[in-house]
Parts: sequence; C-alpha cells; structure tokens
Amino acid sequence: MSDSKQFTRKEISSRNSKNDAVVIIDNQVYDLTPFLDDHPGGHEVLLNVVGKDASEDFEDVGHSIDAKELMKKYLIGQIVAEERIEIKKKTFTWDDKSSPSTDTENSSFINTWKFPVLMGLLMTLLYTYLFA
Ligand code: HEM
Repeated sequence: MSDSKQFTRKEISSRNSKNDAVVIIDNQVYDLTPFLDDHPGGHEVLLNVVGKDASEDFEDVGHSIDAKELMKKYLIGQIVAEERIEIKKKTFTWDDKSSPSTDTENSSFINTWKFPVLMGLLMTLLYTYLFA
C-alpha cells in the first residue's frame, strides 16, 4: 500500500462538507461523499466527523465485519508516515500477556495449581479427623 495516495491531516481538515466529505479512520483516508445518504447510521453522524480523525467514533459504534469490508470501497489513500498515530484496539484476547490472572511465574500463589491442591489436602485431613 506504499503507492497509495498520501495526505496530511491539514489537507483533510478542509475537506469537511457534504460535497467533499473525507474522514480519517486508523490512518486511512476515506471519501464518504457518495456514501453519506447510504450510511445505515445516517448522514448526520458522518457530517459531524468529516475533515477529522473518526477512528474512535468508528470503533465506539462497534461496526460489523460487513461495514469494515464496505469501507474499502471508499478508501482514497492514507496519512503521511510522520503524522500517523498508533492504532488503539479495544478487542480483548485471552492470551493478553498484560492480564493479571495468567498462570505465569509471577502470578500470585492463589492462581497457581498449588493452592487448590493444598486446600484439597487440608479438607481431607479435616474430614478424617472429624469423622473417622
Ligand atoms: C467508511 C466508513 C463507514 C462505513 C463503511 C460505515 C458503515 C456502517 C454500516 C454498514 C452500518 C450498519 C451496522 C453495521 O453493519 O455495523 C453502520 C452503522 C452505524 N455507523 Fe457507520 N460506517 C462508517 C463510518 C462511521 C463513522 C465515522 C461513524 C461515527 C461518527 C459511524 C456511525 C455509525 C452509527 C451511529 C451506526 C448505527 C449503529 C446502530 O444503529 O446500532 N459510522 N455504519
């Protein structure tokens, strides 16, 4: 995609009318002029963000895979390399290494296999002592 057209954020900021409705989503530039009236979420939400970076607004709605496929049709280029921002993704995965409850060397005693084993042993001893 390095040969796609490059835009600066300043260039996009003036393309903010319904006759020239351009938005930035995740460093990609979309011309939504022909899509305004077809957008299932209505043209008003789009007109609020034209000329701007709508990455967060787009993500907040939780657009479907179909919507993400459809947006490719309106892609006209991307933001110049020096003005790109880190893409924030809200998706959660179970193998997220920052999760506090992963069973690693650093996790607390209560999360390791030793805790339930010790509890089981204690309960067995207690049961034997009380009822045998
Ligand atoms: C290329 C850009 C976009 C495309 C192709 C697109 C496409 C769609 C589609 C197909 C839907 C129907 C629901 C779904 O399939 O997820 C939808 C709903 C919606 N979109 Fe977009 N959208 C775009 C940009 C945006 C932006 C920038 C915003 C916010 C500023 C927005 C706000 C909404 C809202 C509020 C709904 C209605 C959600 C609901 O009724 O639950 N969309 N959009």
